[in-house]
Amino acid sequence: MFEQRRGLVLSHIPLGEEYRELTVGAEGMAAARPGQFAGLKVGKALDPLLRRPLSIYHQDRGTGALHFLYRVVGQGTRLLSGLKEGDEVDFIAPLGRGFSLEGLSPNTRALLVAGGVGAAPLYFLAARLREKQVPLTFFLGGRRAADLAFRGRIAAALGEDLVIATEDGSLGRQGLVTGPLQEFLDEGPGREACRLFACGPAPMLREVARLASVGGAIPLQVSLEARMACGFGACLGCVCPASGGDAPYRRVCTEGPVFFAGEVEL
Ligand SMILES: Cc1cc2nc3c(=O)[nH]c(=O)nc-3n(C[C@H](O)[C@H](O)[C@H](O)COP(=O)(O)OP(=O)(O)OC[C@H]3O[C@@H](n4cnc5c(N)ncnc54)[C@H](O)[C@@H]3O)c2cc1C
Ligand code: FES
Repeated sequence: MFEQRRGLVLSHIPLGEEYRELTVGAEGMAAARPGQFAGLKVGKALDPLLRRPLSIYHQDRGTGALHFLYRVVGQGTRLLSGLKEGDEVDFIAPLGRGFSLEGLSPNTRALLVAGGVGAAPLYFLAARLREKQVPLTFFLGGRRAADLAFRGRIAAALGEDLVIATEDGSLGRQGLVTGPLQEFLDEGPGREACRLFACGPAPMLREVARLASVGGAIPLQVSLEARMACGFGACLGCVCPASGGDAPYRRVCTEGPVFFAGEVEL
């Protein structure tokens, strides 16, 4: 169950020009699942009215403190970037449906595919998978090295399990991140053992879904982004087209943001 509360900014670190890692105190809050998110109030007054959804990038086991990794893209995230250590933030968390870890074991292999800041929920997932001793490979892609300026924490934690690709070749492999994924699937330990998890731009998700479905289907969970108003199922502002099932739409904020590939149109 989610709750609304106020937490103190414990740290707020710039990562390159566009990214920030924000850590907010949340003592005693329920443990979040990887893939869940928070709705943060970004202004002190009524403008902007709507909370901004950010994935939980990590949650400290002992203190419950929540970490967010975000890119400054507009009014809300610009206001957020002005927060200083000791400031108070109003947030609702944990929201939404996270990744299912069912069926994952040391005998399976998790393949995590992130485009840009889509790395946030997948990093949290990677941390929990490590605790369960599930072998994993994390594919991280961006257009250029500067788009991955946040990668330090992820690289330090994952070491050789991290594969980076940039479109201009300024970091890691040159090309789309789905290139090394395809190679891994062609040459790796066997598709039956693999489970796919992805978060990033729609074209990347579609290509991951295609790779998951050819030559023996691999279960795929995707974390979607949508513009949100309430964040907890009341306004229908976040719906996306369903794939099959009774309802034509699904609410990204409550039925997602994580969906199995067959549940939504990608
Ligand atoms: C469940 C969920 C988890 C998210 N997690 C993260 C995260 O961990 N880190 C992160 O940096 N961002 C994340 N986002 C996206 C983030 O919510 C938006 O970037 C943010 O709300 C933009 O607010 P703004 O006022 O700065 O930008 P605006 O001024 O509202 O918009 C600026 C630009 O960003 C685009 N944009 C705004 N909101 C969204 C959105 N929700 N989805 C896609 N594009 C959007 C707009 O189309 C516009 O081009 C997440 C979104 C969702 C729905
Ligand atoms: S944001 Fe209101 S229903 Fe999803």
